[in-house]
Amino acid sequence: MKQVKFGIIGIGNMGSMHTNFVSALPEAKLTAVCDLNPEAFKRIAPDILKKVKTFTDDEKFFAEADVDVVMVAVPHYFHPDLAIRAMECGKHIIVEKPIAVHKAEAERLIAACGKYPKLIKSAMFNQRTRPAHRKIKQLIDSGELGAVRRVNWIITDWFRTQHYYDSGDWRASWRGEGGGVLLNQCPHQLDLMQWLFGLPTMVQAHVKLGKYHDIEVEDEVNAYLEYADGKVGNFIASTGEAPGTNRLEITAERGRLVFENGKIEFIRNEEETSTFCRTTSKSFDTPARWNCEIPYGNAPMPEHQEIIRNVTAAILHGEKLFAPLEEGIRGLELGNAILLSGLKDKAVTLPIDSREYADMLAGLVKKSRYRKTVKKAKNAAADGSFANSFGK
Ligand SMILES: NC(=O)c1ccc[n+]([C@@H]2O[C@H](COP(=O)([O-])OP(=O)(O)OC[C@H]3O[C@@H](n4cnc5c(N)ncnc54)[C@H](O)[C@@H]3O)[C@@H](O)[C@H]2O)c1
Repeated sequence: MKQVKFGIIGIGNMGSMHTNFVSALPEAKLTAVCDLNPEAFKRIAPDILKKVKTFTDDEKFFAEADVDVVMVAVPHYFHPDLAIRAMECGKHIIVEKPIAVHKAEAERLIAACGKYPKLIKSAMFNQRTRPAHRKIKQLIDSGELGAVRRVNWIITDWFRTQHYYDSGDWRASWRGEGGGVLLNQCPHQLDLMQWLFGLPTMVQAHVKLGKYHDIEVEDEVNAYLEYADGKVGNFIASTGEAPGTNRLEITAERGRLVFENGKIEFIRNEEETSTFCRTTSKSFDTPARWNCEIPYGNAPMPEHQEIIRNVTAAILHGEKLFAPLEEGIRGLELGNAILLSGLKDKAVTLPIDSREYADMLAGLVKKSRYRKTVKKAKNAAADGSFANSFGK
């Protein structure tokens, strides 16, 4: 059987898991791993480690590793450079989320993708493979729900401890990560928001920096979204609440769908709400309704592995990609728009000006400290000097 050879750069929390996912696929073969820190290789299962070549230098990896696909699983700021380098070496790529930290960097990466039309380029939007998410997309795209009027997504179940933030000095600083819950945990939901509903045309948001943790970046977000078709949205996220909530509520002409606690529940109106509203002769009536629980089946394999399998099948058999890398700019733009709005305290229209965002982030980075000195930054925030640097 023909096998696709994989190499992984970055063997941390996620990259080490990917070593297992790749190794379990019959049409894939893990041949090389790279991490600047050789200690990272201890995270790899011994029976896998003995079969792969290890590198502690990216350029050596690109020059010598015998791979067809490079998976990029390092901190976000390095994603575009490593992905571009891999393509220059003729390698297919899977890039972890977010594909970049800000829109201008994603534009640079996508421009480079255009130079290599024959290479397969995927983002690791593993949540797109979830059967429930695919079912919801099918219900929207088929018209079953009718026109969507309101989307509320509360995602406050990304609880993270101070210990988590302290576990890597790149985490939760403008300089090391370029954002907080919008850049690290929520890229999945930001991608799903645009995948399911498209991008809004306007965002007005409130973001709180280090509200629950000793961190520089946002750990609470409340965003209001408006779309060209009149639909509105509310996107609420936090890493400071326990127990948190993960509730997606879609109000549409044909009724209300709620996805929560693993169940898709649809209260289906017999008649479209707006038609009923205009035609009924009663003052306080509502459309007749049915309560439905929508089945959606089981996942065939772990969701990250499904993306890797999909890329393998795209290379060997021309399978359509679940998560083309180029689409990664859309959820990123939404996250950037929310931060821009929250930090500048203004309504932001999309598409955002990628230069304006890059300039704002550059200002934050200039004042930023890595995690080890974050307490000093917070003290500065208390006396106003840190806070004044970006007008909040
Ligand atoms: N798809 C998902 O569900 C998911 C989950 C977790 C993390 N991630 C993403 O994976 C990426 C890594 O996150 P993590 O939690 O694994 O981080 P981590 O800190 O645990 O691991 C990062 C690793 O990259 C290595 N590294 C840094 N720069 C490098 C370079 N230039 N070359 C080689 N190695 C380098 C570090 O030494 C470290 O071992 C992030 O972008 C994150 O958003 C995705």
